Amino acid sequence: MKKKNLFTVLLMFIVCMAMLLVGCNNDPTGGDNDNNGNDDTHTYYTVTFDSNGGSAIESQRILEGNTARRPNVPVYGGYDFTGWYKDDAATNDLWNFDTDRVNSDLTLYAGWELTSDGSEKPDIPDDGQKNVLVAYFSATGNTEPLARFAAEVTGGTLYEIVPKIPYTAADLDYTDNSSRANREQSNPDSRPEISGRLDNIERYDIVFIGYPIWHGQAPKIIYTFLESYDFDGKTIVPFCTSASSGLGSSASNLHAFASDADWKDGRRFAIGTNKSTIASWVDGLNLNIQKEQEMKISIKSGNLEIIYLLNDSKAAKELYEQLPLIVAVEPFSNNEIIFYPEKLDTSDAPFAKGGAGSLAYYAPWGDVVLFYGSFNESSSLFELGKIVSGVENIKNLSGTVTITAC
Ligand SMILES: Cc1cc2nc3c(=O)[nH]c(=O)nc-3n(C[C@H](O)[C@H](O)[C@H](O)COP(=O)(O)O)c2cc1C
Repeated sequence: MKKKNLFTVLLMFIVCMAMLLVGCNNDPTGGDNDNNGNDDTHTYYTVTFDSNGGSAIESQRILEGNTARRPNVPVYGGYDFTGWYKDDAATNDLWNFDTDRVNSDLTLYAGWELTSDGSEKPDIPDDGQKNVLVAYFSATGNTEPLARFAAEVTGGTLYEIVPKIPYTAADLDYTDNSSRANREQSNPDSRPEISGRLDNIERYDIVFIGYPIWHGQAPKIIYTFLESYDFDGKTIVPFCTSASSGLGSSASNLHAFASDADWKDGRRFAIGTNKSTIASWVDGLNLNIQKEQEMKISIKSGNLEIIYLLNDSKAAKELYEQLPLIVAVEPFSNNEIIFYPEKLDTSDAPFAKGGAGSLAYYAPWGDVVLFYGSFNESSSLFELGKIVSGVENIKNLSGTVTITAC
C-alpha cells in the first residue's frame, strides 16, 4: 500500500515538472526550432510594406493563415493614399485586411494618387544626381555606340527605341522610292510602332535622343517616341549620325512634338566618332548633371527615428549647419512636437502648408515644429522640410532627441 502511494506521488511529481517546463516556455511560437521562430506546428510569415516613396511602415510577422494587421496610413506630400496592393504597380489588387490571409512571405505596395486639390506632383526623391536617359534609334548600328558613350559619360540609362516591325535591308534602301523608310519619311502622318514601353520616364530630368539622318530628317519612329511620353519640364538633347549631311532642321522639326521641353541645340556626329569626342561635347553642354547634395536629417529618440528632407531655404541650411544637435523636445497643442534651435533666417523660406509630416519654423517663438496632424497656415510659420519616414513616431517623441545629418 505504502509502495503504491509512493509510486503515485512520484508519478504526479514527474507530470507536474513536465507541465511546469511547458508552462515556462512563454515564446508564442511554442519554442523556436529555426531562425524564423517557426516550429513543427507554427509557421510565421513576414508581411513587408513597400510605401512607394511614402513614409516607412514596419513589417509584420504573421502566423500562417491569419490576417495581417492594418498598419498606420503612410504619408507622401502631394499624394493621397489609396490603399495597400498586392501588385507592385499598386493599381489592381487591393489587399483586404479583414479577409485576406497570410500564407507566405509577401510584400504589399502603397497606392498613391495626386491630392484632390490638384497640387503638383512632387519630384521623385533622387540620389543627388540629375537622372539622364539616353534614348536612341539605330537601324544599322552607327548611332548605337555614340548613344552608349553618352550614357557612360553621363551615368545615364541607355534605352533603345526598337521598332515593332524590324527594318530589313530592303526597307532601308534609300535609292528605292517605294522602300519602307522612304515611304515613312515622305508621309507626315507615319508613326512606326515601337516595341515595348519605357518605365518611369518621370524619373528622368535630361533625355538625350539619338537617331540617324534619313533624308535630312529624324526617322519617323523618333516622332512616335516623342508622342508616347510627357516631356514637360525635361531637357532634351538631340544628336544624330549621317553619311555626310549636317543636323539641318532634323532636330528643330522635333520641337513641336515635345513643346514643353527645354530643347538644347542638337549635334551631328560622323560615323565612328570616339568616346572622348562625346565626353567633351557632353561637358560643353553644361547640363549641371551633378546636383547639390540633398539635406536630410534624422531625429532620434531611443529606437524612434524620423527622417526629413530639408528644402533649400536659408532657414533650412542654417538648421542643417547647427547639426549635430541634442535638444529637448516638448509636445504642443494636439498636433505638434517642438524644439528650440538657434534663431533661423526666414527671409526666403516658403510658408508651411500640408499636414502631418511638415517640418516648420514658427518665427515669433523661434521653435522648430514637427507636425503630426493638420495645421492652419500662417504668415509666421515657415517650411523647413518634408517627412521622408517615421511620421508615425513624431507624437511619441519626448525628452531629449539627437538630430544629425543623414
Ligand atoms: C533611308 C535612309 C536615308 C538616309 N538619308 C541620309 C541623308 O539624307 N543624309 C546622309 O548623310 N545620310 C543618310 N543616310 C545614312 C545614315 O544617316 C547613316 O548611315 C547613319 O549613320 C545610320 O545610322 P544607324 O546605323 O544608327 O541607323 C540615310 C540612310 C537611310 C537608311
